[in-house]
Formats: sequence, structure tokens, C-alpha cells
Amino acid sequence: MAQSKEAEAEPRLFAFARVASAVVTHFLGITLTGFVAVLARPGSSWFSWHPFFMTLAFSFFMTEAILLFSPHGSPLKKFSHKVKGRVHWMLQCACVTCAALGLAAILYNKHLHGKPHFTSWHGLLGVITVCTVAVQSLAAVPLIYHSLAKGWSLAKLKRYHAASGLVTYLLGSGSLLLGLTSGWFTSSVSDAAWYLAALCPVLSALIIMNQVTSAYVARKRLQS
Ligand code: HEM
Repeated sequence: MAQSKEAEAEPRLFAFARVASAVVTHFLGITLTGFVAVLARPGSSWFSWHPFFMTLAFSFFMTEAILLFSPHGSPLKKFSHKVKGRVHWMLQCACVTCAALGLAAILYNKHLHGKPHFTSWHGLLGVITVCTVAVQSLAAVPLIYHSLAKGWSLAKLKRYHAASGLVTYLLGSGSLLLGLTSGWFTSSVSDAAWYLAALCPVLSALIIMNQVTSAYVARKRLQS
């Protein structure tokens, strides 16, 4: 009797944990974006646009674009997969646009100050991230116009898109984290605030990784 009660409580506990982790990810993405925006005061200098657009791109738009497909924490849970796909596409366009603007801002700022480019790990990983997100978005076009990828089934395209999308998200989280180690950020916040800020991309990456891999495992199970 006690055992069956335990068995009943377990799935409920797991379901709660899944919903809670999705809600936490929405919160972390929005909080980090808001925090960096307040700190950077976009428009106060050319540099200020860089952290602002980059966190908006990766911590907000890309996180929301993936969370949209979460079976537990999607704001569009009740909508069809087709609608979710369209909104995902729009959010990813916003992500790429912001990433391009963020990159342009830091490139122009460095040019203005005569500073060399891509000399830090953050700068190097950052430029790789922006190129990857641009390629990933272009490579997603055959998901809409399937005739562009002859010989590739839609299921295979979707699988590759999800796997490469996860890699792109992890690159984005890594670049954000390295951005938070920059002199500009560390000198602007207290130690405690730094750790809280750093926790945002780390936790979000772990939760998003779990969402994407769980969806893959569930699909595999359905097929077998
Ligand atoms: C995924 C997000 C981000 C990407 C893709 C990214 C990309 C880049 C790139 C490519 C550069 C080098 C530009 C050059 O050398 O010409 C750079 C520089 C810089 N970024 Fe970011 N960034 C991101 C987020 C952030 C954040 C959140 C901050 C601050 C909190 C930040 C602060 C800086 C600073 C201070 C520099 C100049 C110093 C350096 O080159 O390392 N970045 N970023």
C-alpha cells in the first residue's frame, strides 16, 4: 500500500520538477537579459550595445525559441506544432539579427579605439558562435522549403537541426559565460552578483540540453 502511494507520487514529482525547470529557464533568460541591459545602459556608448544585443540574442530569443517546444514549459503549449515552428523561426530570426548587431557594435567600437580583434577567448568563441548561428539558421531553410534538400527525409533534417541547434545554444552559453568574465562586467558587479549571473547561462544550458536530448530519446522510443 505504502509502496503504491510512493509510486504514484514519483511521476507527479517528476512532472513538477520538469515544469519547474522550464519556468526557471524562462526566468533566468529574462533576468540575465534585464540585468545586463540595466548595467550596460544601451545607447550610452558604442560598446554598451554589444552586451545588450548579445544577451538579448542568446539569453532571451534563442532560449525562448527552444523552450517553445518544451512539453512542460512552453508558452504555446496549446498550439499546434506548425504554429510553434513558425514562432520558433521568427524568434531565431530575431536572435540572428541581434547577434549581428552585437557583433557589429563591438567590431566598430574596437575599430574606433584602434584595438586588435579576436585576441581573447571570449572574442574568439564569440565570433565562432555568431558564424555558427548564422549557418544554423540558413541550414534550417530546407525545413520550410523541403524541395531544397533532395535526398534528405524531413525526419533526418529535423534530427540534424535539433542536434546542431543544441551545439549552437551551448556555444552561445559558453560565449555569454566568457563575456561575464570580461573586465567590464567583473568590475561592474559584486562577487555575489557575478556568481548569480554566471549561474544563468550554466543552468539554462543544462536544462535546454535535457529538453532536447529527452525529445530525441522519446522519438527513438516511439520509432522502435
Ligand atoms: C553569446 C554572446 C556573445 C557573443 C557571441 C560575443 C562576441 C564577442 C566578440 C566576437 C568579441 C570580439 C570582437 C573583436 O575582437 O573584434 C567580443 C568582445 C567583447 N565582449 Fe562579447 N559576446 C557575447 C556576450 C558578451 C557579454 C554578455 C559581455 C559582457 C557582459 C561581453 C563583453 C565583451 C567585451 C568586454 C569585449 C571586448 C574584450 C574582448 O575582446 O574580449 N560579451 N564579444
